[in-house]
Amino acid sequence: MDRITTIAEQRAWSRARTRDGRRIGFVPTMGALHEGHLSLVAQARAAGADTVVASIFVNPTQFDNPEDLAKYPRTLEDDCRQLAAAGVDAVFLPTAQEMYPDGYCTFVEVVGPLTDKLCAVARPGHFRGVATVVNKLFSIVRPDVAVFGQKDLQQVLIISRMVRDLDLGIDIVVAPTVRDADGLAMSSRNRRLSAESRAKALGLPRGLELARRAFAAGEHTSLKLCENVYDQLLVHDGVEVDYCDVVDIHGFAEADTANDRCVLAAAVFVDGVRLIDHVALSGAAIPVSVED
Ligand code: PAF
Repeated sequence: MDRITTIAEQRAWSRARTRDGRRIGFVPTMGALHEGHLSLVAQARAAGADTVVASIFVNPTQFDNPEDLAKYPRTLEDDCRQLAAAGVDAVFLPTAQEMYPDGYCTFVEVVGPLTDKLCAVARPGHFRGVATVVNKLFSIVRPDVAVFGQKDLQQVLIISRMVRDLDLGIDIVVAPTVRDADGLAMSSRNRRLSAESRAKALGLPRGLELARRAFAAGEHTSLKLCENVYDQLLVHDGVEVDYCDVVDIHGFAEADTANDRCVLAAAVFVDGVRLIDHVALSGAAIPVSVED
């Protein structure tokens, strides 16, 4: 696996593959990799990529909280070992100075219903940072297909919208959320949970599953569905629900009454660690595509 640290070198690498007629798959990450990330590599291959680039860059512009940025886990050597074992051909590892040199002042912002609720409100500026860095990474790596995890549902919807609105011509593949055996969605942040905190965090997938069951049993009032999540989590000290909302995936509007197109999405702090997860209330696969 090639390790690439400069934009010029990554451009030349990608240009050479494209000239050879290769289809480039891209998996952007912030490192601290787990099986969920490795599943994205497999999805890139399944989507027809015959060469795969991953990036590891803890993007400062998407952190609204400097302490969160400082505490973000960094495990570079282990990450590179895992990527090489997963068959990644190149890993792009830029520095913050390489990505945002002195004088940098250009940002990409998706506006409208996708960015006026949930994590966009809870983390002001977060999606502006994500859209900006993903746009930059796309223009450096020049992939044919890029893969993102469904756990970050709002992120992948925003990126799909950006790709469409800016005519970037990149296929976006959404990979299913990978969970540990206890049900917790895999996340780089999970490694910051002690055993005790992890036990509290399990209230999140449990609450989501109870909400799905309540919906199947005929409860459609969003507040009532959300109570399942609150009830599972707020019994613990050190747990705070950042948001818990029912959103119609078509149009991304908050829904007081849930329907088959709705997801229940929540973000929680468990002993200071922020976790997000969601469930499709109908139990069906969520169509992560951008509508007109
Ligand atoms: O999901 C992530 O890890 C990040 O938001 C991404 C897409 C790599 C951009 O920094």
